[in-house]
Amino acid sequence: MFFVRAKKTEAERVRQRLVDLGIFDSRHLVERSGDYILFPVSECAEGFDCVEMEGRTRNVKPTSLKEALSEFLTPEELERAITSFDIIGDIAVIQISRGMEDKAELIADALMRVHKNVKVVCQKMGPRQGTFRVAPMRVIKGEDRCTTIYKENGVRMKADLVRAYFSPRLSHERERIANQVKDGETIAALFAGVGPYPLVIAKKKRVKIFAVELNPYAYGLMVENIKMNHLVGEIEPILGDVRKVGPELPKCDRVLMPLPKGGEDFLDVAMRIAKPGGIVHFYQFTPEDDLYGEPISRIESAARRLDKKVKILNKKIVLPHKTRVYHVVIDFAVY
Ligand SMILES: C[S@@+](CC[C@H](N)C(=O)[O-])C[C@H]1O[C@@H](n2cnc3c(N)ncnc32)[C@H](O)[C@@H]1O
Repeated sequence: MFFVRAKKTEAERVRQRLVDLGIFDSRHLVERSGDYILFPVSECAEGFDCVEMEGRTRNVKPTSLKEALSEFLTPEELERAITSFDIIGDIAVIQISRGMEDKAELIADALMRVHKNVKVVCQKMGPRQGTFRVAPMRVIKGEDRCTTIYKENGVRMKADLVRAYFSPRLSHERERIANQVKDGETIAALFAGVGPYPLVIAKKKRVKIFAVELNPYAYGLMVENIKMNHLVGEIEPILGDVRKVGPELPKCDRVLMPLPKGGEDFLDVAMRIAKPGGIVHFYQFTPEDDLYGEPISRIESAARRLDKKVKILNKKIVLPHKTRVYHVVIDFAVY
């Protein structure tokens, strides 16, 4: 195999050029000989001082992703390479910063060396968009699929990361809601996706949940997930638009509104579903300088239009969303 020889003083510059050209071979060890560093390469490119010799396979498992990435990224690149990272079942979803897309495969390779349970690496190619709130994705490494089984709070869920919304980051929020639910409640889980909120709640409590979802792929997965967790009967999946289906639901003790972008247009539907004293969990994306002002005024105006009263019970940040914007929840009672 080939190595590129560089004087110690020039080694970092040469290594960076080899990485930029995509010929740095991270599967073999870098060697040293006197004043020279020898970098393993996949081919001997013109303009480099190449030598042919026996190479040693890298068999030391890096202990962290950072360590694995530092083999071919500069410290500055390392800081900004990956802008978001989630492991969902056996799929890793990464977002790579602009200008570093050419390193995507090397990054995916490093990730799979560190996380042995990851079988697929998907690259998120942009923000979530459209009514179904799905992000453009592509598989960069591993099996050609974006479906997986994810375990959380005692339930198993099938997710399709290309066709239906799913986020593992909301597991704490699902647990928080499930802990508030009392046995015997009737619940409307609006904007249900593949069913994580209803599944986690119904696994913990004796309840009846109506779970409404518009995206047919997400609805299909929710039906599978209900069966997989033996919750047929406890959760009734409904394919349709909350605006049309909502008024047909029975009165509920609790209404979930996990649609932070656009959910405000459905506050009237949710308030009509809630029994007197029923609780609504309302999610929004809000700026850090006014986290709760806008959502609370939206709740109050919707209540005024319906001639109802509301009592704010709790407000909190669920997650950071993007720079200076948060995903917040307001829990309120309707009378
Ligand atoms: C932010 S996702 C949340 C999904 C799920 N609750 C979760 O946490 O994984 C919002 C979901 O609402 C669905 N949706 C959007 N508008 C809808 C509507 N008018 N009626 C029913 N579902 C809708 C989308 O397809 C999407 O699955």
